[in-house]
Amino acid sequence: MDKQGMSGKLVVITGATSGIGRATAEGLSAMGATLLLVGRDEGRLKAAQDSMPRVEGVPMPETHCADLSSMAEVRRLAAAIRDAHPRVDVLINNAGTIAGRRKLTVDGYEYTFALDHLSPFLLTNLLLDRLKAAAPSRIITVSSSAHLAGKIHFDDLMLARRYSAPRAYGQAKLANVLFTYELARRLEGTRVTANCVHPGAVRTHFGNEASGPVRIGLVAVRPFELSARQGARTPIYLASSPEVEGVTGRYFVRGKARRSSTASYDLDAARRLWEESARLTGLEADERAAGDRK
Ligand SMILES: NC(=O)c1ccc[n+]([C@@H]2O[C@H](COP(=O)([O-])OP(=O)(O)OC[C@H]3O[C@@H](n4cnc5c(N)ncnc54)[C@H](OP(=O)(O)O)[C@@H]3O)[C@@H](O)[C@H]2O)c1
Repeated sequence: MDKQGMSGKLVVITGATSGIGRATAEGLSAMGATLLLVGRDEGRLKAAQDSMPRVEGVPMPETHCADLSSMAEVRRLAAAIRDAHPRVDVLINNAGTIAGRRKLTVDGYEYTFALDHLSPFLLTNLLLDRLKAAAPSRIITVSSSAHLAGKIHFDDLMLARRYSAPRAYGQAKLANVLFTYELARRLEGTRVTANCVHPGAVRTHFGNEASGPVRIGLVAVRPFELSARQGARTPIYLASSPEVEGVTGRYFVRGKARRSSTASYDLDAARRLWEESARLTGLEADERAAGDRK
């Protein structure tokens, strides 16, 4: 791959302090991309910033600290990016977790759904004009094969009635795929592409926030998993390869577009999830207010 292929391109990547996100950032940094690293801890962000391979002439990666489970923090992050950058070439929505016990965010939302789905939904929407300004540009969302067992519980999105970590994670990761497909439809003709990815089973800190048998299971399989660098291959490919220029609305595994679950192609569910997400993140109210001002 052209080492300098990403030169002059601004890549925003969430969850850049560990695992797949950090390895993706390292790979793109080595290709000459200008990075904006997002994490939730200043110390870990500084360590990630210092460890990035440097290419001559490329500015030091920028860092932004935000707890992305909070919608106010997502908005603060988006505002900071918008203030500093008229264009964003690539957005990689990677931060995610599987919460062991049901817990609520500051907004009162189920944690995994908020961090893994609502946060990328809101961040992407708030950066859309910057992505359009950079077109052809790319949005990549890190989903999981766990979406295959997922279901969107429209009557109980916050899983108040029945919670389990796999149920929460499956729902959130299916939401990533439905969101990607709906986004790609809405972005038709803009030359902004939206794709999602299953990175493989990767040895990272993933699962540290789980508990009980789920955590034990995730830790037990670690020796057999891919390295973070291997897990980063498909996100890097989607962010940088000319082969996927113009390819949109697809689910990628090991560098190839694959069929995702039957539920992920449900157009009504995708529209309904979009509307619910817009309401929960306050995007709907923003759009109404913008309409009133016109
Ligand atoms: N590992 C796998 O086998 C696997 C398989 C399929 C999909 N995935 C997906 O891959 C993505 C990356 O996961 P990973 O495996 O690389 O896990 P990881 O090592 O735990 O990395 C997760 C990243 O997200 C950040 N993060 C967590 N909570 C956050 C919050 N509230 N606000 C802001 N950032 C937060 C973490 O920050 P800290 O460094 O501060 O913790 C870290 O940078 C996730 O979306 C995950 O669902 C992973």
